[in-house]
Amino acid sequence: MKAHELRKKYIDFFVSKNHTQISGQSLIPENDPTVLFTTAGMHPLVPYLLGEPHPSGTRLTDYQKCIRTGDIEAVGDDSHLTFFEMLGNWSLGDYFKEEAIRMSYEFLTSPQWLGFDVDRLSVTVFAGDAEVPRDNESAELWKSLGIPEDRIFFLPRKDNWWGPAGETGPCGPDSEMFIDTGKPVCSPDCGPGCHCGKYFEIWNDVFMQYNKQADGSFLEMERTCVDTGMGIERTIAMLQNKGSVYETELFTDLIGAIEKLSGTTYGSDDGVDTSIRIIADHIRTSVFLLGDEKSITPSNLGQGYILRRLIRRAIRHGRKIGIEGTFLASLVSYVLEVYQEAYPILLTNAETIDKELTQEEDRFSTTLQKGEHEFQKILPNLLKGKNRIIPGRIAFKLYDTYGFPIELTEELAAEHDFTVDKSGFDKAFAKHQEASRAGAEKNFKGGLADHSDMTTSLHTATHMLHKALRNMLGDHVQQKGSNITAERLRFDFIHPEKVTREQLDEIEKVINEQIEKDLPVTMEIMTLEEAKAAGALAFFDSKYGEQVKVYTIGDFSKEVCGGPHVEKTGTMGRFKIKKEQSSSAGVRRIKAVLIKD
Ligand code: ALA
Repeated sequence: MKAHELRKKYIDFFVSKNHTQISGQSLIPENDPTVLFTTAGMHPLVPYLLGEPHPSGTRLTDYQKCIRTGDIEAVGDDSHLTFFEMLGNWSLGDYFKEEAIRMSYEFLTSPQWLGFDVDRLSVTVFAGDAEVPRDNESAELWKSLGIPEDRIFFLPRKDNWWGPAGETGPCGPDSEMFIDTGKPVCSPDCGPGCHCGKYFEIWNDVFMQYNKQADGSFLEMERTCVDTGMGIERTIAMLQNKGSVYETELFTDLIGAIEKLSGTTYGSDDGVDTSIRIIADHIRTSVFLLGDEKSITPSNLGQGYILRRLIRRAIRHGRKIGIEGTFLASLVSYVLEVYQEAYPILLTNAETIDKELTQEEDRFSTTLQKGEHEFQKILPNLLKGKNRIIPGRIAFKLYDTYGFPIELTEELAAEHDFTVDKSGFDKAFAKHQEASRAGAEKNFKGGLADHSDMTTSLHTATHMLHKALRNMLGDHVQQKGSNITAERLRFDFIHPEKVTREQLDEIEKVINEQIEKDLPVTMEIMTLEEAKAAGALAFFDSKYGEQVKVYTIGDFSKEVCGGPHVEKTGTMGRFKIKKEQSSSAGVRRIKAVLIKD
C-alpha cells in the first residue's frame, strides 16, 4: 500500500465511523508561542480538546504535516525524520478508551483496511504512578480483541504518556501500537520500549484527561478526549515490509537523484547512506517549510534559523559524499512529485522554494569560502603551538564571525592533523548562545545565532520592557512570546486590555531614563529555584536543579534568559514603541525599536 492509499483509507475508515474530515493546518502553530512548529496532528486542535466547541462536531479526522527537530541527531537511522505526516482521529468529549481501541484494532487488522497480521502487533499501556493509576482497562480491551498477554506491555510515564504539544495543554496516558519487523531481539529485555529497531511504533491512542499548566501542575479536564496519531512514513514502511522509511516510494526517486549527483550507491556504505538519508530528510523538510501556507525563509531566528540549519546541514553532507556546486533546487521536483496532490500549496509556492534554496546555497558557499580563507590565515600560528589542538575560542570565532560550522572546522582541522577542543567550543558557544524559546526545538544545537549589536541591544530592551510593563500594569503581565530581528523587537504578553498611548509614552520614558543611567548588565548562573528566590522573572518549567543564566540590569530588572545582552545600557540607543495591538485572546503585542545615532 502506498502513502496516498493509506491517507485515503484512514480518512474513509473514520468517516465510516461518523467522523468528519477536517483539513490539516500550517507547519507554524497558531497562538502557541511555546514551540516553533506543529509537532503533532492534535496541535491545531488544542483549543477544542480543552473545551471550545469545534464547528465540525465531536468526531474528527485528518492528515497533518508535522515537524520535530528535537532528535535531529537520530535522523539517518531507519525511522527518524524531521518532517512527517500524521493521520489522526479525535473524540472531543465523545468516545473514550473502548471505542478508540476497538477502532484502532479494526483498522490495523481487518483485511478490508490495513490487514496487518495480528501476530506482528504488540501494544503498550500506561503502567501507572503516584498521580495516575495503571491503565488496566486498556490492557483488558486489547486482550479481549485478541492480543495475547505477552504482547501487552505496561510501561512508565516516560514511554506511555503523551503531551502536551507545546509546554502547556492537554495530555494524558496513552496506548501505543507497534509492528514487529521480524528482526531478532537485541537483548532479553528487548520490547516495544526499546529503540533497537525490532519494533516500529506506528500509532498512538492518547487518552486526554489532563491540562498541563504553566507552573507544571496537571489539572483534570472536565471532559475527556481521545487524540490519536498514526505516522504515515512508518506505517507504509511496515505495510511494504521495508526495513526503513527511506526505502518507501516517498524517498526512492529522491535518493536515486542524490546517488546520481554524488556518484555513490545507496546501500553500499553506512556512512554514505547516513549522508544520503540526511540530505533526503532535510530537503524534504526544507521544501515543506519554504512552501508552507506561512512560508518560512532562512534567517537567524526561530523557524527561519532551523530552516537555515537544515539547508546548510544538507549541503555539508552533499559535499561529504562528493556533490559539487549548487544542487538542492534540483532535488525539489522529487519532493513535489510525491506530495503535490496531498499538499497543493507546495506547487503554488514552487517558485519561491527554488529561489530561496538557491539563494541560501549561494550565501552558504560564500560563508564557506570566507571561513576556509580565514582558517588558512590562522594555520601558521596554530602550527607554532605546542600541540595540534585548535582552541575552542578560535573554533568559536570562526563560527561566530564567519558562520563557519564547527563540523567543518573539525574536518579542516583533521586534514591538517589537528583536533578541535570541542568542549572549549561548547563553552564559548553556551556563553553566547541565544536561548531558543521553543520546547523540543531547544535541542537544536549549532546555528548562526545573531549577536549583532542591534539584536543584542533589543534583547536587553525586551527585559526592560517586560519589567516596565509589570511595574505599570501589574504582576499579571507575563511574557508569552518574544521575537527579535535586527530591526525591531516584538513582545507578546498577558494583559486583558489595550495599553493606552499615554501608558505607552510613560513606559518609553521610564525605559529611556534607565538606559541613560548607563546601568551595568551582569550575568550569574544559578539553579532556577535560586533564581526565583532571588526575585528573577522566570515563567517556564525546567528540570529540578537545572542551571540557568540570570541577567540583572542595574537595580531595574532581573530575569532568567539565555542572552546575549549589552554590558552597559548606555550604548543601547533611544527606545521607541511603534505599535500596540492584540495578539490573541488576553494577549497583547508590542513592537518597538531602538534608535541609534
Ligand atoms: N498526539 C499523539 C502523538 O503525537 C497522538 O503521538
